[in-house]
Amino acid sequence: MATIASRAVPRRWPLLGMLGVALAAGLLFWVIAALPYLSLDPDHFGLGGPALWPRRYQLLVHIAGGTLALFVGPVQLWLGETRSKLAWHRALGNVYLVGVAVGAAGAYYLALSTPSGWLYASGLFGLAVAWTVTTGMAYLAIRARAIEQHREWMIRSFVVTLAFVVFRAVAVGLGTVGVGFAEAASFAAWACWAVPLLLLEPCLQWRKLRATR
Ligand code: HEM
Repeated sequence: MATIASRAVPRRWPLLGMLGVALAAGLLFWVIAALPYLSLDPDHFGLGGPALWPRRYQLLVHIAGGTLALFVGPVQLWLGETRSKLAWHRALGNVYLVGVAVGAAGAYYLALSTPSGWLYASGLFGLAVAWTVTTGMAYLAIRARAIEQHREWMIRSFVVTLAFVVFRAVAVGLGTVGVGFAEAASFAAWACWAVPLLLLEPCLQWRKLRATR
């Protein structure tokens, strides 16, 4: 089993670049897509407004948890990958877990209560399951002191957290090429987490294959 000390520290600049891009994209989409809901003004509820207004308090709980996970995630990955400030890493890990737990609880409720059709609802429900499973596995791995598994599941978990950004980018992108809102949102609800997880897996496995050579 790999220990913290036995694993090579990755080069810092590429890692910092990737996490910086994730943080910047998260911040941009948070300001555009999440911030307006905090005003609790029905006029700021956007396209999904009529469906979300009756569930606004559950949505706020979901946004609070999602926001924690979105902004603590990159810091956590940085501290873990560079093996620096491990006491901070431990404390922020708990904050990340609380963020995902609260965000996912809200997400399950919102997915099960959305009036926007079963295809859309099932995609977002699947996303909530992926969020719970990846983060739960990261937690169980670190409890078992399985550092490499913890690292991999945390990366998967944060990629799933970023699905919030991918969802809006895909839905808006498809809208600009003429795809209807309902169709684009249903496609994005599945693609926003399934495709990034599929692309991530060969990257994680490739690293291990190289290490065994
Ligand atoms: C990764 C797991 C996530 C799941 C499963 C999830 C699920 C959902 C669901 C089911 C809805 C309601 C959609 C509707 O009824 O039409 C929703 C809306 C929303 N979520 Fe999440 N979400 C996740 C992550 C996040 C994160 C990290 C944030 C960041 C703050 C976030 C912010 C929002 C916002 C602002 C809305 C309002 C609708 C919109 O603007 O599109 N979500 N989410």
